[in-house]
Amino acid sequence: MTVVFDWQGVDVRLGGRAQVQALQGVTLRIHAGERVAVIGPNGSGKSTLLRALHRLVPVAAGRVEAASRGQAGVVEAGRRQAMLFQRPFLLRCSALNNIRLGLWLAGLPWRATRQPAWAALERVGLQAWADRSARALSGGQQQRLAFARAWALRPQVWLLDEPTASLDPHAKREIEQLMAVFASEPGATLVFASHNLGQVKRLAQRVLYLEGGRLLADLPVERFFDEAILAQTSPQALAFVRGEVG
Ligand SMILES: Nc1ncnc2c1ncn2[C@@H]1O[C@H](COP(=O)(O)OP(=O)(O)OP(=O)(O)O)[C@@H](O)[C@H]1O
Ligand SMILES: [Mg+2]
Repeated sequence: MTVVFDWQGVDVRLGGRAQVQALQGVTLRIHAGERVAVIGPNGSGKSTLLRALHRLVPVAAGRVEAASRGQAGVVEAGRRQAMLFQRPFLLRCSALNNIRLGLWLAGLPWRATRQPAWAALERVGLQAWADRSARALSGGQQQRLAFARAWALRPQVWLLDEPTASLDPHAKREIEQLMAVFASEPGATLVFASHNLGQVKRLAQRVLYLEGGRLLADLPVERFFDEAILAQTSPQALAFVRGEVG
């Protein structure tokens, strides 16, 4: 199986003079095709983990293998990753042009961007909004547009930082459907942070629990939500789950 991320004892420090230890000694291996949820209290390092996987923040110590070394020795160079955030960053132009610009920035000639941008809008059901200003769309539509813009570039790895946190239940379901559909494309890998344990159960195969920048549990989803197993692996994770549910 292809290894997508292979971390050994990774530390990340942030802030002035890098004094905040945002991640500490994280050892983690993620394979192609996995659907992984990252959970934990506020400030536990979820966003930092995703940003470091996307190489938006530097790693202070430890070993990061970008990808590669499947058992068959597969080396995957130039893997395409997309990262999406709780609040999508959209440009001040039409929905269609947001996607066209994404494709153009990726190197496509402008005239070649129209067709794939339309296909991406259709993929998320936003054709009727193509000419609408992206920033005038609802929160759920903006997030769908952000997914479309990312999907147009055919990412193999999706890194999503609480993509439904600011959405109403209906929009949340729509985005979850997109997450499920995109994650089920052949070889796609999904890593998402969430505060919603129902969403974690619906979408993830595996759960990472962070607290204070440390990875305290890394379990298949059915084992994570088995209290007897979780109690043995990480009493802190169990306390968190009980607190979230209670
Ligand atoms: N730019 C920054 N400069 C300094 N410290 C930071 C910075 N970004 C995050 N931190 C700190 O790093 C730690 C981890 O933050 P992070 O945002 O990764 O947590 P999180 O689990 O995503 O929290 P939340 O649930 O609130 O989104 C926290 O202590 C936070 O204050
Ligand atoms: Mg966060």
